Amino acid sequence: MEKKYENIMVERVEEVGIVKINRPAQLNALNKKTVEEIIDAIEGFEKDPGIKVMIITGSNHFSAGADIKEMSTLSPIEALEKSPLAVWEKMMENIKKPVIAAIQGYAVGGGCELALSCDMIIASEDAMFGQPEINLGLMPGAGGTQRLARLIGKQKAMEVCLTGRFIPAKEAYELGIVNKVVPKELLMQEALKLAKEIASKAPIAVEFIKDSIRKAFETNLKEGLEYERRLFYLLLSTEDAKEGMKAFIEKRKPVFKGR
Ligand code: HXC
Repeated sequence: MEKKYENIMVERVEEVGIVKINRPAQLNALNKKTVEEIIDAIEGFEKDPGIKVMIITGSNHFSAGADIKEMSTLSPIEALEKSPLAVWEKMMENIKKPVIAAIQGYAVGGGCELALSCDMIIASEDAMFGQPEINLGLMPGAGGTQRLARLIGKQKAMEVCLTGRFIPAKEAYELGIVNKVVPKELLMQEALKLAKEIASKAPIAVEFIKDSIRKAFETNLKEGLEYERRLFYLLLSTEDAKEGMKAFIEKRKPVFKGR
């Protein structure tokens, strides 16, 4: 039985844990309560050995960002230390299982930043990305300038963050923000297909690949290559790697056990 939450819905489909933001009247704006619930659900799935991959999605829209009404009452120090979005964004850096964002409608401001903190993004044709904080006299504060610059390059990141214009799904795909654009009615089906495919792989290899790719954004190439090399040799010692290679030689499907 899944826990009951107020502003999110949680579901599991086989080995995939799904978190759905559900404050549709406010376009899933992220107030403290909602973010606390999302963190609780994601951390729960992270600890759950029955879950291999997660999907974050939203009812009607992904999210219109930080709850502006709530944010407008925070003092700068409160915002710096307790901004729920900053807490979520930091938490995402420590999640070892792959997280896929399945996005329809608006994913703007903090909503866009949280999508960018996921590992892959599947978007429906109506999805709309953007960092409109500039229009509030603000700026992205949960990774937008940093992750976008790394993902789409300096010039485009400047344009997106300085104009606040919204980027439709097709353009987001062309820019490399989105892995795949699909018709709206197929969004969850496609996200689940991707999640289940990854869930069928050797879990330690999945974890190490995610870790190593993320490292590419934190280190120089020399250190990154060394890090990857060490993880590769460590993986060779796993039962799953032995089974994977044995199965290849015996021309059969491998049975992975996560050991
Ligand atoms: C609180 C919000 C909201 C938000 C929408 N709503 N976005 N409430 N915070 N971020 C509410 C509206 O007030 C309205 O409530 C209802 O949701 C529907 O929104 P509309 O504006 O009527 O919808 P629409 O005309 O379709 O326009 C959609 C929209 C627009 C273009 C996405 O809502 C919008 O610009 N929202 C703000 C987006 C934004 O600036 N996000 C960045 C936030 S700052 P009522 O009660 O009137 O019906 C941020 C910083 C993160 O995210 C960094 C933190 C560290």
